Amino acid sequence: MIPDKAPQENVFHCSEDLKKESHIPSFEKYKELYIRSIENPDEFWGAIAKDFFWKTKHTGQFLDYNFDVTKGEIFIKFMEGATTNICYNLLDRNVHERKLGDNIAFFWLVECSAKRYGRKTGRDMRVLYLMISITIDYFWFKEGNEPGDDLTVTYKELLQKVCRFANVLKSQGVKKGDRVSIYMPMVVELVVAMLACARIGAVHSIVFAGFSAESLCERIIDSKCSLLITADGFYRGDKLINLKLLADEALQKCRDKGFPLKKCIMLKHLSKEPEAAGRQSPPAKRACPDLEVPWNPDVDLCWHTLMSGAADECEPEWCESEDPLFILYTSGSTGKPKCNAASCCRLLMVSSLQGVLHTVSGYLLYVAATFKLVFDHQPGDVYWCTADIGWITGHSYITYGPLANGATSVLFEGLPTYPDVGRMWQIVDKYQVTKFYTAPTAIRLLMKYGSDPVQKYKRKSLKVLGTVGEPINPEAWQWYHGVVGEKRCPIVDTFWQTETGGHVLTPLPAATPMKPGSATFPFFGVVPAILNESGEELEGPSEGYLVFKQPWPGVMRSVFGNHERFEATYFKKFPGYYVTGDGCRRDKDGYYWITGRIDDMLNVSGHLLSTAEVESALVEHKSVVEAAVVSRPHAVKGESLYCFVTLNDGVAYSQALEAELRKQVREKIGAIATPDYIQNAPGLPKTRSGKIMRRVLRKIACNEKDLGDISTLADSSVVDELFRNRCATTARV
Ligand code: WTA
Repeated sequence: MIPDKAPQENVFHCSEDLKKESHIPSFEKYKELYIRSIENPDEFWGAIAKDFFWKTKHTGQFLDYNFDVTKGEIFIKFMEGATTNICYNLLDRNVHERKLGDNIAFFWLVECSAKRYGRKTGRDMRVLYLMISITIDYFWFKEGNEPGDDLTVTYKELLQKVCRFANVLKSQGVKKGDRVSIYMPMVVELVVAMLACARIGAVHSIVFAGFSAESLCERIIDSKCSLLITADGFYRGDKLINLKLLADEALQKCRDKGFPLKKCIMLKHLSKEPEAAGRQSPPAKRACPDLEVPWNPDVDLCWHTLMSGAADECEPEWCESEDPLFILYTSGSTGKPKCNAASCCRLLMVSSLQGVLHTVSGYLLYVAATFKLVFDHQPGDVYWCTADIGWITGHSYITYGPLANGATSVLFEGLPTYPDVGRMWQIVDKYQVTKFYTAPTAIRLLMKYGSDPVQKYKRKSLKVLGTVGEPINPEAWQWYHGVVGEKRCPIVDTFWQTETGGHVLTPLPAATPMKPGSATFPFFGVVPAILNESGEELEGPSEGYLVFKQPWPGVMRSVFGNHERFEATYFKKFPGYYVTGDGCRRDKDGYYWITGRIDDMLNVSGHLLSTAEVESALVEHKSVVEAAVVSRPHAVKGESLYCFVTLNDGVAYSQALEAELRKQVREKIGAIATPDYIQNAPGLPKTRSGKIMRRVLRKIACNEKDLGDISTLADSSVVDELFRNRCATTARV
């Protein structure tokens, strides 16, 4: 399945320097270890497990499972019989055994602008910092290059904060197995809250702070949480988010639905008095006149008051390997088959909420190993993942994976384009970031502004660049590689899902020759296959459904409270396989290329087309910076292609350009993929995590005004604009 020799033509290699220091320095080494991970998982994972602390050893085999619904219940068990604590492994082990207590766990920084600070001058800001820093004994402030707050937290300090907060949770009656909902911005306390849960064996359910009150309420009720942790508010760019107001609204909705939550702990993030700053939380911000902090004394508790009375030590709760660690909600699919005229029994995914459940030991080993090997983590690295902790990328690759390796990370509460589009690279230089992980959508956004804002900064520290979240179009890949990484840094295009826990298809930076747009090969322990519509495995170059044949330690164990749903969603369609819901192509060299979600596939005159493929073809045009393609029903062809294109700054939309774009797609993919409609879209509807909301685009394409729940939309004005400028309803073909 994996070729003996890596291809030498039309591929990109990392530098010789990187190979020298790398954990896996060659393709041959990767292949050797890969085979070992499949043929002898006990030995492979056993060696990784040796790096961690186990209160009791496992008794059975490393991996026990059933992946075949026709043979009984689906289950995955890893290291049964072992007991451990993930928080102990992330913090106590690094502080006490590895002597990394004084190493920095996080550089935390947040934006602030003149507007927020009442137009203080740079000098005023510095005086203010000086005043605050005198009162602070747990953090060291470093003055930023420009107005902004930042601080560092060492492993020792993090351990102490986590122990204190674990004691707080215990004092509020939280016990092993209880669910705790966390609704917080990107502050160090979010990490503290999640690890405190893990320390006492409670199960955290983090709800991204960009979600609405309704979404929070739904998630609290679904996982029957006993306590909510939130903050007063935060800023997204210049916009104040009154988080406590939203949390209160959610709690009221919970009460209305007969689920009264008794306790809510609130962190004062914006409203804290300067003199109280420092002991347990990031530096106080200046007064925010628009901040509203409602207080219900029957329910609300103050983070700072509780912390000030809590003890510094807390014995971890020793957990079984398969005890739950966390729940994270995704939009699931029920995979109901639906027939239409042109494509019989095409899978139409019905979106609904489902709580992906991860457990202790397998997740620990998997995120630790993927972080170490995919980012080729080395002592002295400064790692920065721009995701929000509210998503799986933040869980696995801001909190658990990096801390399990004793890494130093940047934790950034801000926007990549705020206050300007050079912000990312300025931070890279400021902290000398070596490993950088972001999303293709962010790359395309920055690409739109050209190379000048990037080249204003040196970026000499960068060694490995990563992407996640969606297929990266080759043009964005080339820009990331050529402009950001100056052709020096390999790009790890990591394919994975909330459900997979960690990377499953990914290059290893020094071992895998890269092809722009390909997630390349499986990580250790992962066995992919490509199936056709009848569920037959395809060999060699092929395209179809991406599935996995056996579990790896980090895969989800169930849908919280609904194991049937778990089986129906991931295992029923093709018995014997975990179905990702993504389409995939394997090329002649055995490289895997994700073609997009199967539910984003189109069937035009009986031909399956990937929207991602068409998008990539459009984006390759020099005038287009981003494209999103959706299906619009067509009387003859079944479905037609409706394309939204965002043009580069300064480019005007014209009939001639439209004709060029049609030609381009026809030439790249074939006449079958010729766009039926092309609409100029200066902005696309996106979630706050940057994913394009295709569901909304499909409605626009069909001129259907009932959009359903759009609370996750970052900017709703974009939608009105797109409706106003819809294409005429008759297709041009
Ligand atoms: C998509 C994010 C192509 C894919 C970690 C998957 C990708 C979904 C890639 C999971 C990639 C993620 N190339 N597609 N490198 N990474 N995806 O659960 O469709 O938010 O199924 O997890 O994102 O999204 P999720």
